[in-house]
This record gives sequence, C-alpha cells and structure tokens, in this order.
Amino acid sequence: METHEAILIKQGAEARVYKMPFGEGRCAIVKERFKKAYRHPVLDEKLTARRVIQEARCLQRLRRAGVDTPTVYMVDTPNSLIYMEYVDGSSVRDYINSRAPMNDDDERLLAQSIGKSLAVMHDLDIVHGDLTTSNMIVREGSQSLVLIDFGLSMVSSMVEDKAVDLYVLERAMISTHPDTEGMFQCILDTYGKSSKGGKAVRKKLEEVRRRGRKRTAFG
Ligand SMILES: Nc1ncnc2c1ncn2[C@@H]1O[C@H](COP(=O)(O)OP(=O)(O)O)[C@@H](O)[C@H]1O
Ligand SMILES: [Mg+2]
Repeated sequence: METHEAILIKQGAEARVYKMPFGEGRCAIVKERFKKAYRHPVLDEKLTARRVIQEARCLQRLRRAGVDTPTVYMVDTPNSLIYMEYVDGSSVRDYINSRAPMNDDDERLLAQSIGKSLAVMHDLDIVHGDLTTSNMIVREGSQSLVLIDFGLSMVSSMVEDKAVDLYVLERAMISTHPDTEGMFQCILDTYGKSSKGGKAVRKKLEEVRRRGRKRTAFG
C-alpha cells in the first residue's frame, strides 16, 4: 500500500494493518492481505479476494445483527484492502492485564458482553476462527465490546466448529492471563443462555476439551 500518512501498526502472517487519517479528526484502519509467493498467482488472487470479501461481509452482517464491529468504509478487492473504522479503545488483552486484579463487577460485565456477542455471532453461523483477547476491543467511552479480525472466519452451522471456536478462546485466555477460569466460565454461562444452540455447543466443548487433554497427554 502506498499512502504517505499511513502508519504500519501490525505486520502479521496474512496481513498488514495500517492506521491512517480519514476525514476530519478521524482515523481509519486499512487491512491489506498480501500475496503468498508459494501459491500459484491466479489461484492466490482468487483465494485472497475471497478472504477479503468474506472478512468484510462478516463485519457487516454482525453489525447489522447488533454486534459491535468496526464499520466497513470501503473494500478494494483488486488490491486486497479493507478500509474500516478505527476503534478507539484498548484490547481486552490489555484491559485484563492493566487492571490486575479487575474488580468483580467489571469482570462480570465484560464476560457477559463477550458471551452475548459470541452467541449472536454463532447464531448467525459465523465462526470467528481466531478468538483471542487481542481480537476484542473495549471501546473508549461507551465500553462497548467490539469484535475484530475475521480474517480466518468461516460460515458454518456445525456445533463442532462453534465449540472449537470457544475452545480456542479458552486456551488463549488460560495462556495469556492467569486466573481467568472464572471469567471464562461467566462467558460460557452467558453464551449458553443467549445462544439458540448454546446448550449443544457447551456440551460439545466438553468433548473437544477431552480430546485436547488426550492430545497433550499422549501426543
Ligand atoms: N478497526 C480497528 N480499530 C482499532 N484497532 C484495530 C482495528 N483493526 C485492527 N486493529 C489493531 O490491529 C491489530 C491487527 O489487526 P487484526 O485484524 O487482528 O489482524 P491480524 O490478522 O494481523 O491479527 C489488532 O490486534 C488491533 O490492535
Ligand atoms: Mg488479530
């Protein structure tokens, strides 16, 4: 991407993320998926375009369903770019780490909003694919929970896929934040109550955990 005022804020394995001025006193995030040298160029272009469209579509569907996600400003498919609202706030990761220990009410409210957002997302058959506390932002001011980074998302109605989505979050929380079992439990409780298929997904999660333990024990 060539924009003079854009600042690179993250260089990941799949994408570069820039922040740039956008309109009066506002900022936009530009997410650029880059080409994979090892893939056939024509195939690569098709796959990349599909991912870009999928990511933008997820953000928009969720927003329409009442889940806070960045507003999509523009999608430039030929250049694999998504322009979206810059969300001012702090990642849930920083939020948890900077408030050690978080007060019980704050922790419960945060866990409940995570549980509710994930329930709506899964009821739309959107599986995030990379649920971590870095991919959630608490908005400055309103404290609204914003889900980001749908670069690995997929559309699936499978209970298994949704359970794995939650398992990824559980593992991520355990490894990045000590003493968050209670908080994850609260996320699950809210999820179970809010999602249509919540009970089945929770049940499946227990099975996914058992498989995970076996893998660590024998593999
Ligand atoms: N809309 C946004 N508003 C504010 N920060 C963002 C936004 N989108 C991404 N970021 C920041 O950029 C980082 C990387 O973006 P992300 O979409 O998660 O890409 P990656 O696939 O590289 O993880 C995020 O962890 C977050 O800090
Ligand atoms: Mg991310």
